[in-house]
This record gives sequence, structure tokens and C-alpha cells, in this order.
Amino acid sequence: MQTASSSHRLPQVATTLPGPQSRALFARHDAQLTGANGDHEVYPLVEAGKQDHLIVDVDGNTFADHLSAWGASPFGATPPAVKSAMEAAWDRHGMQISGWLPNQAALALVDKLVAIAPGRLRRVEYSVSGTLAVEGAVKFMREATRRPLVITFGGQYHGESTYMTAGASSDLSNVSSGRTQYAAGVVMVPYPNRFRSPFRRGPGPFDECEVLDYLDYLLVQQVHPGQVAGVLVEPVLGEGGIHAPSQRFWTRLGALCRRWGWLLCLDEVQTCMGRCGAMFAMQRWQDIDPDLLLLGKAFAAGGQPIAAILGTDAVMAATELHLGSTYGFAPAACAGALAGIGLIEAGGVLENVRALERIFLEVLSPLKGEVEQLGDVRAVGAMAAVEFVRSTSCITPAPAFQFAVHQECLRRGVLGISQRGKWHLRLQPALNMPQALFRFSCEMLADAIRAVAKAPPAEHPTVQDAVAMAAR
Ligand SMILES: Cc1ncc(COP(=O)(O)O)c(C=O)c1O
Repeated sequence: MQTASSSHRLPQVATTLPGPQSRALFARHDAQLTGANGDHEVYPLVEAGKQDHLIVDVDGNTFADHLSAWGASPFGATPPAVKSAMEAAWDRHGMQISGWLPNQAALALVDKLVAIAPGRLRRVEYSVSGTLAVEGAVKFMREATRRPLVITFGGQYHGESTYMTAGASSDLSNVSSGRTQYAAGVVMVPYPNRFRSPFRRGPGPFDECEVLDYLDYLLVQQVHPGQVAGVLVEPVLGEGGIHAPSQRFWTRLGALCRRWGWLLCLDEVQTCMGRCGAMFAMQRWQDIDPDLLLLGKAFAAGGQPIAAILGTDAVMAATELHLGSTYGFAPAACAGALAGIGLIEAGGVLENVRALERIFLEVLSPLKGEVEQLGDVRAVGAMAAVEFVRSTSCITPAPAFQFAVHQECLRRGVLGISQRGKWHLRLQPALNMPQALFRFSCEMLADAIRAVAKAPPAEHPTVQDAVAMAAR
């Protein structure tokens, strides 16, 4: 089974999953944690620790880590440069509330961010999580324009606050099942998607600028453009299944923003700091000129929690907003983030990310046409996804197929990102994952897809049924 030639250690799964030790821990802690933590089919293991790019479970099984802490651990388990920088800062400062007490660790990071920030972005607001950064950005947009509405794109994810769960939709129909609430002031347009269009049947490639035609229609029918503060958009759709819009889309969106005075806010929480093969994902295209750009996840470099809002002078210089958070830009987190940027600037990381993108497409693309259920294969840097359908002609989503492939991957030692009810499976490795280990993982994914295709699982009658089941 383990075909990759590599000096790097390959994963080994020796027990059924969950293994006996994991099973015993689940049995005890299910009574102590919330019910939402009780689904042990999605991740049927308890981690004992991490070694470089392998997760070791309490039963001694090892898995290639394609979660990378959901993107927050971009350099493997415990990158030495990040660790020593954090320890030194902690020795000097301990904990400090940087928004109130200026300190050298935080200001050094601000200097670096302003130096690398693209376009007109010249100012920094401290934050501690992606969710809080998005909430802050919405406030900045409203304050700067004195307008109430924000345009977002369906399938995006912006975190778990009450407001932004309603302003996103990647977690299926949460907004209407009582799990979150409808929020005023959010106008949602479908995310540009070349493979699957809400306006057409069958597989693409479609002209994904149709969603901007739809927006034009909304601006006549429903929303006064002068009431829109700004557009909140992920440059590459992450949780929604790795979609990268075209240059045409960005050019047209930029023109709309300029025409109507809308601010452009890029949520780069998931795509920043090398994840997409450039420091910021927006740099994959020409002439994107954001007013705000949000950092999180990989910004922490695998260290302590940290996030940021970058903004222009026009948006941030005269603000009266106070968005402070006790832990925002804590000194050790700042030192770790700075060390992480240093690792990218030292060279080699972005090149590796682009090689991972090529490997994923090279290994998985040939299955299109061979496996009836493989609808699409997408990769943007170290964000990669396969999308499953019931048949390539009708492209009805196949969430049960996706989940079965995930289980087969786990048995082969490949731990990717899978969620019940969704029909895409993702790999999100560390940016510096050795190419041989990544190739091995892709081969195992291909192997798993072929295995499931031999006896495809029954799907729920409709996708809505699958979503309802997933939400139970
Ligand atoms: C694009 C995007 N924005 C915001 C968030 C929320 O970040 P956090 O989990 O740090 O609050 C996420 C998390 O997955 C994300 O992917």
C-alpha cells in the first residue's frame, strides 16, 4: 500500500478506528464535553502528540497531517524558530494587553506587517481570532462609509460569532435551523464557481461572472447601491470547497466597488501567509486593491492565537472604534508571528507550496473521467479539494461518497478535512510538508476514491435530506 519512495516517515494505522485507547477516552469524555464533540466517526482518534507532519494517536497509529490545525500550524508540529522566538518574548514580557500597553514585541510585528502589506494597506488593528477580525472589519466598513449593508458570498465562512455565522453559509443551512440567526444588513450573492452554478444544470466550466450579473439585478430589485458599505470576500473560498475566481471576476468586482463607493474587504484568514503560494492570496491576481485585509490562522505560524485587520489610512486613521481584545497581539504571539513571516521570507516555503499544488492536480486529475463520482479536482497552493457527485452528468452532490472516502483515507493514514453533509474533501497540509509525503497522501486519496467507487454508498434522496441528517 505504501508506495511513495521517501526517506520521510510514512503514516501507519495498525488498529481499527477508533483504537481501543481512543475508544475508552471517548466513552469517558463524551459525558463531560458538549454533544457537538461526540461525533467520533469524523475524527476517530485521540491525539497523543505530533511529530513533524504526522499526528500520533493514543493507540500508536500515525496519520499524515492534512488538517495543520485547520491551517493554523503552517510549518509542521513545533517549528524551532517560532518556538524560540515565542519563548524569548514570553521571558521578557510574560502576558501583556498590547492594545492598552504598547510593547516592543507588538510594535515590531506592526512594522513588519506594514512593510509587507499590499497596495494601500498601511495600518494595523490588533485581534486574536479570525472571527473577531471579521466582526471588526464589518464595523470599520460601516463607520467609514456610514452605510449599513455588507455584501457577502454564499459558501463563505467567517467564524462563529452570532453575526458572522449569519453572514456566511459554508456550514450548510445552519442559518434557519435555529443554530444561528438571520442578521440584518447582510446581502448574500453566490460565490463565483466555475463547476457548479445555481443558475444552470450540469457541470461547468461556467462563466462565474454570472454572479456579478445577479448582483447587478439585486441592485435594481432589492438593494440601493448607495446603502452598501462594502464587500466581504474570501479571495479563495476555503471552507466552501476551494474555489478561486478568475481575473475577470476581480476586475469587475473592483470596478463595481469604485463605481458605488464600496469598500473591498478580503477575508484572508485562511489564505494568508503563504497558504496559496504567495504571501497573500490576492497576489495571485493583478490589480486587486483592498481597503481591508484580514489575517488569522497561518499568521500565528503554529504559535499562539493572533489575528489582525490591515486597513488603509482612509478607513482606519480617524476611526473612533475600539476593537480591543485582552489577548490581541500578546507579546509571545507577536514574536511567533514575526518568526513565521521570517520563515517565508527566508525562501523555499512558497516554492514548496506551489509544488504541492502541482502534485495534487497531477495525481488526482486523471481520476476525472475514470471515476463517475469524481466531479471536480481543485487546488490553490496548499489548499486542495475533490468534489463528489452522484454522476458527472447531473452533478448532484454526493456527501455519503465523500464521507466514505474520508474513512478509507483514515485507514490509509491520511487525515484530511471532512465534514458531514459536505461533498468535498480537502487536504490542507503544512506549507513545508515534504513533497514525498504529500505525494504519498494524494496517492492514498486516489486509492481510497477508487475503492469507494467499487461499491458506492447510498446517498440521501436529496442534498437537503443529507444536510438535515448532518445537522441532527
Ligand atoms: C475565511 C475565514 N474567516 C474567518 C474564520 C474564523 O477564524 P477563527 O476560527 O480564528 O475565529 C475562518 C476559520 O476557519 C475562515 O476560514
